[in-house]
Amino acid sequence: MEKSREEEGAPAAVYDRMGIGYKEVRRPDPRLGALIRQALGGARSVVNVGAGTGSYEPQDAEVTAVDPSRVMLDQHPGPRKVKAGAEELPFADGAFDAAMAVLTVHHWPDLRRGLGELRRVSRRQVVFTWDPEHRPELWLVEEYLPEIRALDKSRFTPLAEVVEAMDAHTVLPFPIPHDFTDGLQTAYWRRPEFYLDPVVRAASSTFATLPASVVEPAMERLRADLASGAWRRRHAHLLEQESVDYGYRLVVAGEA
Ligand SMILES: C[S@@+](CC[C@H](N)C(=O)[O-])C[C@H]1O[C@@H](n2cnc3c(N)ncnc32)[C@H](O)[C@@H]1O
Repeated sequence: MEKSREEEGAPAAVYDRMGIGYKEVRRPDPRLGALIRQALGGARSVVNVGAGTGSYEPQDAEVTAVDPSRVMLDQHPGPRKVKAGAEELPFADGAFDAAMAVLTVHHWPDLRRGLGELRRVSRRQVVFTWDPEHRPELWLVEEYLPEIRALDKSRFTPLAEVVEAMDAHTVLPFPIPHDFTDGLQTAYWRRPEFYLDPVVRAASSTFATLPASVVEPAMERLRADLASGAWRRRHAHLLEQESVDYGYRLVVAGEA
């Protein structure tokens, strides 16, 4: 029998599996929230595509949340929720003042089509994503889990292509603060012990996708390096920094 996309481990199915517990670890960060709100430019109606649990939605707008994962949508607090993928948005042309898509475009099977849909249904588009070609890489990738590099490269589209597909006019860097509250993969660059927590790891789709046989030995090496002081000796320069640019970008297109 032919397998459905969800049975094959399509992104929505990954989130149906890992979505439980997501909300506790992935707490919206107020600094990123302020940047996104500013980019939305006072939009009254907003469609949040790949909305998940509703992080970063403006409180003063009418927001419609779209996500293909039922587990994620069930955790979304808003009244307007639609189960759909970005590639086929069930809305009329120009239905919204703005569309937002935060840390989701790398999951879309057809990025160009999804971004085309954002442009079709809204007058302004705000996308927060990560550039796989950006350097420096997180020490976790370089020293413990180089397997993440290939996985992320296969999922994330280079920033230049996203900018071109959106016909974007603005690209803003977002250096990750040392106390960033939204537990994405690089959030703990200055708090290495957090990566040892399986609950924290389960809220990152990268960790959730890699097999335990790869992740666990790497985490044992990190545990040993933290206990011996080797990690701190190698990364003394990081401990003095407030934020690091790891390649996260806010991309804005459409009407001002
Ligand atoms: C890392 S979460 C981000 C959720 C939310 N935007 C946030 O910032 O917390 C990625 C979301 O993308 C959703 N997603 C996966 N495939 C998608 C698709 N084809 N179209 C739209 N959303 C998708 C997942 O279900 C998940 O909720």
